[in-house]
Amino acid sequence: MKFDTPAAQNPIDRLTVIGKATDRIDGPYKTTGTAPYAYDWHDPALKPAYGFVLGAGIAKGRIRSMDLSAAKAAPGVIAVVTAESAGQLGKGQYNTAPLLGGPEIAHYHQAVALVVAEGFEQARAAAALIKVDYDAAKGTFDLAAAKDSAKPAKIMKDPGDTAVGDFEAAYAKAPVRVEETYTTPDEAHAMMEPHASIASWEGDKVTLWTSNQMIDWSVGDVAKTLGMPKDKVRLISPFIGGGFGGKLFIRSDVILAALGAKAAGRPVKVALTRPLMFNNTVHRPATIQRIRIGANKDGTITAIGHESWSGNLPGGRPEAAVSQTRLLYAGANRMTATRLATLDLPEGNAMRAPGEAPGLMALEIAMDEVAERLGMDPVQLRMLNDTQVDPEKPDRPFSKRELIACLREGGERFSWSKRVATPGQVRDGRWRVGMGVAAAFRNNQLMTSGARIRLGPDGTVTVETDMTDIGTGTYTIIGQTAAEMMGVPLDKVTVRLGDSSFPVSSGSGGQWGANSSTSGVYAACMKLREAVVQKLGLPAADAVFADGEVRSGGKSVKLAQAASAGEIVVEDAIEFEGLAKKYQQSTFGAHFVEVGVDAATAEIRVRRMLAVCAAGRILNPKSARSQVIGAMTMGVGAALMEELAVDKTRGFFVNHDLAGYEVPVHADIPHQEVVFLDEVDPISSPMKAKGVGELGICGVGAAIANAVYNATGIRVRDYPITLDKLL
Ligand code: MOS
Repeated sequence: MKFDTPAAQNPIDRLTVIGKATDRIDGPYKTTGTAPYAYDWHDPALKPAYGFVLGAGIAKGRIRSMDLSAAKAAPGVIAVVTAESAGQLGKGQYNTAPLLGGPEIAHYHQAVALVVAEGFEQARAAAALIKVDYDAAKGTFDLAAAKDSAKPAKIMKDPGDTAVGDFEAAYAKAPVRVEETYTTPDEAHAMMEPHASIASWEGDKVTLWTSNQMIDWSVGDVAKTLGMPKDKVRLISPFIGGGFGGKLFIRSDVILAALGAKAAGRPVKVALTRPLMFNNTVHRPATIQRIRIGANKDGTITAIGHESWSGNLPGGRPEAAVSQTRLLYAGANRMTATRLATLDLPEGNAMRAPGEAPGLMALEIAMDEVAERLGMDPVQLRMLNDTQVDPEKPDRPFSKRELIACLREGGERFSWSKRVATPGQVRDGRWRVGMGVAAAFRNNQLMTSGARIRLGPDGTVTVETDMTDIGTGTYTIIGQTAAEMMGVPLDKVTVRLGDSSFPVSSGSGGQWGANSSTSGVYAACMKLREAVVQKLGLPAADAVFADGEVRSGGKSVKLAQAASAGEIVVEDAIEFEGLAKKYQQSTFGAHFVEVGVDAATAEIRVRRMLAVCAAGRILNPKSARSQVIGAMTMGVGAALMEELAVDKTRGFFVNHDLAGYEVPVHADIPHQEVVFLDEVDPISSPMKAKGVGELGICGVGAAIANAVYNATGIRVRDYPITLDKLL
């Protein structure tokens, strides 16, 4: 189905299942420990051996020699895989450095060997017996030092540097100016479930149970890396214990499990240990961002410029931290620039709201600084500079843009009017108290997405798609969509996800999953509805599917009747066409935060949080709220705690475990309030929905930074805002 015309009314609009707060249909599997995650997928017939990954002990250089003899002779060892024994491997489209290193080493903890043994402890013990001699080379590990060597860079369809009007002239003339530099550190996804895979070969075919967000991309990359046809690779990823972008692409566990299983002649399971995760896989790259904003005395922005520097391995991508600045505020003269330096740290890549999350951490402090210089309320400043069109391409309107309504609603609910604009004025016992605000912005991306639907003779509906549920609630919204479309209760729908033998979906990434994948299910259900009325010999035009029946032409027939002679199976995909080109589609929100800062110790506590989101139709308010509070929590981490500490001499992330890499715990998080504006966006898709999973983190960090400033009068521009920066 091509989606190129907004529907006035469609079967989803009945809203009998869609739009209702619904418990996760997969919840009981998770809470009873019966959800099969990658590493514990137990097919008793498999009897997998255990693989243990050895990571490189240098950040850059060459392996001079490797002595495997002691490891091979160790108890229980079945095979040892190295780059030498694996032979020439191909390169996946989405991986920057080879997933199995040697003799060249691209980054610290790049995999250099896999030991396969009968037991996990045997494999681990044997891996410690491998002797590797390295020729270490000098690397570049310091972004600030490498900044001047950075070059223009862009990601895929990104336009690269942009310019409208004459930024420099307008900025020079502006009566009110702010120019500041902000930094965000390297951050880790630190998802609960580590990367893990089980590989099993049957002849020239490999089946991989793994934990992956994008099944089809990853099948392609396994095939490319192992040099085999795509149709000989099967990926199964039904449950994922968090991804946050770190599982968009295959990592070393997938390839090494496949190579290990081949070498051992039997299935092999490989999990990356927690200490390997931080340097072996990917992270959100650090940024240095320079922002210049010029405004008239009335607060109108006349010039807005944003430059961002990040680093990556050769061939890697930049962090697109300027992307929201192209779209968020009006301003006749504007420029953005993205610069990329070569660094020899582990690969930087997408992490929850790549680009916008760190970009807004800078831009939305800068807006607070402009408001202060103007003596204007920061909510007011943002409202004043709203735009309903893409400021770089004024012929492209936003399909929906309710930023002003989010700010207004949030301001009222949060009692923003009680904020004292002059910083450092409010005390509550030992706490200095402050309030901060920031806009939230994240683009709405659309992806082709397919599904197969089966109607059984018993009237049950089964959906099959390679879509994934990364903890987001996909199982449930897909079930809700099919139930709504076919007029059956949710418990009559079975949802099967995460298997490359199912139709190719959008996958989970970039907060496109909810809207795109349910639209694919919508398309397949439309086809099934046609098949059903045809089978039943009913007129199609006025057919209503409700209460397990099909009503048409004054008749009412049980849905199951259509499949009485055998299951009906249809397949279709949604393809987004013209509308996506004509309109700028984005999601909006406003974050309000209150913090307390201990007057003596500078301990920072978040006291209240509110997010107001405008993101199209909310398919399941319960799981959507979970997405937003999770993202707000991650925003607290980014603001106050998270930082991969770089060893700038040896070139690795020092705090590579969950003791040293701090993320918020329950005690760090106050009550979080989430409000969804009643928005429906018919331009976006037949579901009229968008996504919220990344919107929720966008802006949180700056709202906290602004609240800390309001509490203390200290402007911290280098994240994370740790208490030492306030003393
Ligand atoms: Mo997201 S960082 O595209 O999973």
